[in-house]
Amino acid sequence: MVASFPKRFLSGSAWRRLFLVASLAGMSVGKGDAILAGPDEPAKPVDFNRDILPILSDTCFACHGPDDGQRTANFRLDTEEGMFADRGGYRLVVPGSSAQSKLYQKITATDAAVRMPPASSSSSLTSAQIDLIKRWIDEGAPYAKHWSYVCDHREKCFAVWMAGGGIKPGISFGETDDYSYAVALDPVHVHDLQATILHCLGIDHTQLTYKFQGRHFRLTDIAGEVVNQIIV
Ligand code: HEC
Repeated sequence: MVASFPKRFLSGSAWRRLFLVASLAGMSVGKGDAILAGPDEPAKPVDFNRDILPILSDTCFACHGPDDGQRTANFRLDTEEGMFADRGGYRLVVPGSSAQSKLYQKITATDAAVRMPPASSSSSLTSAQIDLIKRWIDEGAPYAKHWSYVCDHREKCFAVWMAGGGIKPGISFGETDDYSYAVALDPVHVHDLQATILHCLGIDHTQLTYKFQGRHFRLTDIAGEVVNQIIV
């Protein structure tokens, strides 16, 4: 993730704290390094979220992604339905067969006028990326939802302990039901939590954006309100 942080929104100390956060975040990114195998190890299966999604997001979503206004050729690769849809006699991805997959045919076309991404776009695929996509399809094209949507344990609530940075001391905000399953009082969306944390860092969350899937997102997506009830 590359976030653009306009400096004028940050005080000096906010910058330092933010730098810390950013370098921690950077440490966990490590795209692709885990798929290298040692001499005696069999290659690990390709993982959609780790290996494939970032490639598609960087090189394809600008035209085949979530933005209705930018979409060309009337399909999207950011949804499972779009990826595997029947296109009237052929499919973009045929699990187990890269040769029959239109997507693979298009990224390996020798004719530059047919090849994806188009020569006119600013992006291109490396042969290593093409090889990963081939392996993923030939391994059966397992598609997994983005990890942030996959949570099977108490997915409806979270609890966070916060201190300092202008947080009111000694209060608790929000409640769950008796089973800690559902929120019973004062729900705080995760985007609200993020907006509040950014506020405590001295950052106006509505001013920060980063480019993802061809669109400028806020760190708090398009929503997120500072939870003023917990601020001094
Ligand atoms: C700059 C916009 C743009 C980008 C970026 C782009 N495409 Fe396309 N894509 C198009 C256009 C326009 C067409 C329709 C013309 C054609 O088929 O060549 C198309 C067609 C396709 C088709 C054929 C669909 C069909 O049913 O015939 C596939 C598959 C495809 N793109 C895959 C990709 C993949 C995979 C990427 C990323 C590696 C990508 N495209 C990046 C613009 C784009």
